[in-house]
Amino acid sequence: MHTIKIITSTTRKGRKGIAIANWMFEFARRANIFNVELLDLAEINLPLMDEPNHPRLQQYVHEHTKKWSAQIQSADGFIIVLGEYNFGFPAPVKNALDYLFNEWKYKPAGIVSYGGISGGLRATQMLKQVLTTLNMMPLPGQVSIPFFTKYINDEELFVPDEAIIKSAEAMIKELNRWTDALKTMRV
Ligand SMILES: Cc1cc2nc3c(=O)[nH]c(=O)nc-3n(C[C@H](O)[C@H](O)[C@H](O)COP(=O)(O)O)c2cc1C
Repeated sequence: MHTIKIITSTTRKGRKGIAIANWMFEFARRANIFNVELLDLAEINLPLMDEPNHPRLQQYVHEHTKKWSAQIQSADGFIIVLGEYNFGFPAPVKNALDYLFNEWKYKPAGIVSYGGISGGLRATQMLKQVLTTLNMMPLPGQVSIPFFTKYINDEELFVPDEAIIKSAEAMIKELNRWTDALKTMRV
């Protein structure tokens, strides 16, 4: 069974993205086709990229980087739960990506984006440029959630509608196919 890791993109106190990440985690787990783990960047708490060497060399000097490297190395694919800040993707996810290089290589990434009217699509387009530089495959079939706050209830739980569920099902299927395909490149 492949291991899929769900990565948050926002870390501020009171952030809403964690409700979507928690839902996605359960949703992916219940599909019963992957091992699923949640990597919450707020918990992982990486400082701003502070490695002296280029990540391609993997000569990490900091414990936080070695730990992050192992967490990403052991993943076969990802789902990034992506917020949108000022028409771009939030800085914590860029920082987390920049720490590593080879660990991301030949792995697919499904994107679940959320925001106002754009549903995080502008952030997604910017993120794709970075993901492909890392030799990742961002899935075209993503989940995009405009006006996402209407799906968050009083208990701060994300409660999706049928359209969101359908797009999440489709994304998970694609993620599984791409994970199979790209694994053959990681020899
Ligand atoms: C700094 C900042 C910039 C934002 N810029 C955008 C934006 O460009 N597009 C958008 O749809 N929402 C924007 N928003 C609203 C966010 O979609 C909303 O606050 C969301 O809850 C942010 O994700 P988070 O709660 O996980 O941090 C912005 C919010 C913040 C805090």
